[in-house]
Amino acid sequence: MLEDWVSIGYLISAALFIMGLKKLGHPRTAPRGNQLGALAMLVAVLTTIADMQFSGEIYWVLIGSGILLGSAIGYWMAKKVEMTGMPEMVALFNGFGGAASALVALSESMKYIDGATLPEGLELWVVMIAAGLSALVGWMTLTGSLLAMYKLKGGISVFGKWIKTPTWGPKWLNPVKVILFFGVLTLIVMAVNDPLNSNILWAIIAISCLLGIVLVLPIGGADMPVVVSLLNSLSGIAAAFTGFIIGNSVLIVAGSLVGASGLILTFIMCKAMNRRLIDVLFKSFGGSGDKVELTRTKVGSDADEVAMILDGAQKVIIIPGYGMAVSQCQHQVKEFADLIAEKYDTEVSYAIHPVAGRMPGHMNVLLAEANVPYEQLIEMDEINSEFPDCDVALIIGANDTTNPAARGDEGPLAGMPIIDADLARSVVIIKRSLSVGYAGVDNDLFYMDKTMMLFGDGKLMMGQLNNAIKES
Ligand code: TAP
Repeated sequence: MLEDWVSIGYLISAALFIMGLKKLGHPRTAPRGNQLGALAMLVAVLTTIADMQFSGEIYWVLIGSGILLGSAIGYWMAKKVEMTGMPEMVALFNGFGGAASALVALSESMKYIDGATLPEGLELWVVMIAAGLSALVGWMTLTGSLLAMYKLKGGISVFGKWIKTPTWGPKWLNPVKVILFFGVLTLIVMAVNDPLNSNILWAIIAISCLLGIVLVLPIGGADMPVVVSLLNSLSGIAAAFTGFIIGNSVLIVAGSLVGASGLILTFIMCKAMNRRLIDVLFKSFGGSGDKVELTRTKVGSDADEVAMILDGAQKVIIIPGYGMAVSQCQHQVKEFADLIAEKYDTEVSYAIHPVAGRMPGHMNVLLAEANVPYEQLIEMDEINSEFPDCDVALIIGANDTTNPAARGDEGPLAGMPIIDADLARSVVIIKRSLSVGYAGVDNDLFYMDKTMMLFGDGKLMMGQLNNAIKES
């Protein structure tokens, strides 16, 4: 009877996870999707606690303090994190998710190695395969995610000293990755043949940690979105393996959902970057990681000059990028769009590059927060054909995603589809300097005759531009 109730609890939880995931597919329904996901997790936790309570195996102090501590840290981090720090926090949580799954799998397999009785129908060799795979994926996710986090951050502060995270790794790391991967697979086979030897499990953990580092180290330049979404998928796969070991159906379902959706996202990111996953992992597209030395100069314009060219513009396309997230100027951007639509009857839309910013959907989230109508947010593939008819392309803190160098065959951006802002009649770019973007490549667009640079912080310059329009 109790087992039936537990199964029903897990079923409700799994259904809520699936409904939540479906709602995450659109910015309008995404907040509700998040709430459903949180509710699904609550139902899963309560069901598990009820199951443990009735089977007499509950350690209230351990569970209670874990929940309290975890909730307090999670709440504090979510409150404290800046919008620009979200990608690093997501990377960190991916890593912790992978490690948590791998730790549960480890403790469970150690229990059986120490002689605990296996549940009916479960064999030790099956536990060893699942524990080995969970360790491989989980520990690799932890170290890979930590490195990805520091790459996204640009470095780490140790004893007050700022140490830059390498954005690249030597090409000879590729065979090392393959050797380490097959090394772990061999160890898993050894664990199956000698399931009582716990040293094999420790060796799997050590090599998997190393594998996470060598896998992520060579990936840099613009290809980090692919890595972040792949690690997200791996954390789910590790959870699914662990669910299998502890016989928890909701962990298998939720882990598989994260694994599958993360994999779909990975392929969407690959498509956005025009890369094959295998090439991202093994070709080290990121380039040398050295930022180019800038030699060219460009005289900046001012807000009044830009307001003059906007007067009479029939079609304006706004292209947001990472700098908009840094300066948090999305509300000023919305005010700008409303102003020119009202004052000059201008048609305004937003061109959204799939990897603009530092996390999938970064620009959509920011613009939704400023109440920009969803219909005005147009994906790159759809809007690119409109640039030849566009009077002004206004770029706010975007760089790599508009860099014509991507149309060439060389460099970290080679082959990445871009927003065709350079095809507009006039281009206005708001950023603080001529400096390079995430991939470290100089941008010819800045130096074109049709381009006006408005040098300064996004929020400050958008404020000045809005005032200039109001006063014109
Ligand atoms: P980026 O190429 O990163 O360029 C952002 C620009 O914003 C910088 O050149 C910077 O120039 C400017 N900026 C910074 N702070 C600013 C401020 N306060 N006010 C105004 N401008 C400011 O941006 P992007 O075009 O969005 O491209 C994203 C890049 O990140 C791609 O290479 C992408 O592959 C990578 N990436 C994306 C993701 C995801 S999932 N989206 C994850 C990891 C990496 P100044 O310093 O001169 O101001």
